[in-house]
Amino acid sequence: MNKIESLNNKPDPFIMVIFGASGDLTTRKLIPALFHLYCRGLMPERFCILGVSRTAFTDETFRDKEQTLLEATIVNSSQKALISSFFTNIFYLKINTMEESEYGVLKDRLRSLGQKLNIPANYLFYLATPPSMYEVIPQYLSKYDLQKEKTGECWRRIIIEKPYGHDLESALRLDKIVLNVFKEHQVYRIDHFLGKETVQNILVFRFANGIFEPLWNRNYINYVEITAVEDMGVLDRGGYYDSSGALRDMIQNHLMQLLGITAMEPPAQFNGTMFRDEVNKVLRSLRPMSDEDVLKDVVRGQYTEAVTLKGEMKSYREEKSVNPDSRTETFVAMKVFIDNWRWSGVPFYIRTGKAMPTKVSEIVIHFNATPYQLFEKQCAGTYCNKLVIRIMPDEGILLQFGLKIPGSTFEVKQVSMEFKYDKLSHTSLPEAYERLLLDCMLGDNMLYSRTDSVEASWRFIEPILQVWQTDEKSPLYGYPAGTWGPPEQNDLMDHGRSWTDPCKNLTDSDNYCLL
Ligand code: BG6
Repeated sequence: MNKIESLNNKPDPFIMVIFGASGDLTTRKLIPALFHLYCRGLMPERFCILGVSRTAFTDETFRDKEQTLLEATIVNSSQKALISSFFTNIFYLKINTMEESEYGVLKDRLRSLGQKLNIPANYLFYLATPPSMYEVIPQYLSKYDLQKEKTGECWRRIIIEKPYGHDLESALRLDKIVLNVFKEHQVYRIDHFLGKETVQNILVFRFANGIFEPLWNRNYINYVEITAVEDMGVLDRGGYYDSSGALRDMIQNHLMQLLGITAMEPPAQFNGTMFRDEVNKVLRSLRPMSDEDVLKDVVRGQYTEAVTLKGEMKSYREEKSVNPDSRTETFVAMKVFIDNWRWSGVPFYIRTGKAMPTKVSEIVIHFNATPYQLFEKQCAGTYCNKLVIRIMPDEGILLQFGLKIPGSTFEVKQVSMEFKYDKLSHTSLPEAYERLLLDCMLGDNMLYSRTDSVEASWRFIEPILQVWQTDEKSPLYGYPAGTWGPPEQNDLMDHGRSWTDPCKNLTDSDNYCLL
């Protein structure tokens, strides 16, 4: 991906300030994404990145550290050749972000960098800090007018990482503080799932093709599964995860956005306002859960020690920085309904988990069977019409249907037609952060969560959190690491439905064995 890409409009020259620059996110995601945009020719001619944190780096030591780590991940020689010039745009400022007066120092540094590099006062603030700082930084920025835009002269934007709040109340409080100083159009609440190429393609798949849209409703769809699971445990994030859990970490944000995109109405126009209006309508149409619904329709689990195919895995409670008596869930499966005209009565099954057999994210659309089964007797095993949208890995789309097995009988077997991104030559999928950072530089907030959707999603999640916190009868099932989670999740499935095994999707081996 070295070719210079063209955009209708390039971002304006700007300064990006990364708060929490000494942290992991900066090294793992932000610097690589900015570098790849630079290699693709998508950064403006003049820009600079100012890392800010309490750690004592100078410009040089910060560059050296980040450059060494980035170099270790770059194999492409033409990209390697650009690393040094990219790093001339990186600077560092050590301040204590808890101190209001230190923002005066930041303002001076921004002014002097702007003058030296001939960059107007367009500032993009990125909060890559612990969430406890999200309420503080916007307020202190405003004390020095750093959030103030001047129409036609300069823009100011702020990107806020997840988790955006810990529950409904804290999310509303955070939003109030942020929106007290920034305007909604300046606030970019990042959800990296929306930056994934394959997630964006769901919109094109649904709204650029006439084939599926007529079927995309309660008349033809029996149920929908949305899965995002991982084989790893919590690794070194036990401290954060133990106070979060799978529901807050994955469902409140990433899976709710996937649900929104899968179930939304076509927007009248393809722009940030109308797109986000439609996502928000879906989230507001989610059927609220009563306490009984939570007990009946939500299953939570926590992984236990096991020997998996990849070796021994310790239990969640033995992970670093996790409370040994923790009741935090590492797995959630739930059945939800969208009470609107299109989806009335269609269950959406959502699941996420750590320490599962594999890492996979996918959406599976199960279509209704034919009204009358002509070939029931001849059917070798079960078959059904299923559309699998694989978000990662093996990114692609698969349509399954029944086929007559060649021969003198009418035996039917399930086969598939598939598209895989890796079949597109010369195309590698950009990282989610590349797309999202570029959009923010361009002032396009379509793929960022809007205030009303964040609220709607928390409103839906809140009753589940309440029941788990207060009802001792609400079970937390153990499941051995490396398995698909507690079998109780199967109780959510009724009318002959079942969970799809993602390991069996996107493989055409079944087709070959026919011939
Ligand atoms: C993050 C969660 O938002 O998403 C992590 O905090 C999770 O727990 C990650 O591992 C999954 O993202 P991806 O893109 O690797 O599927």
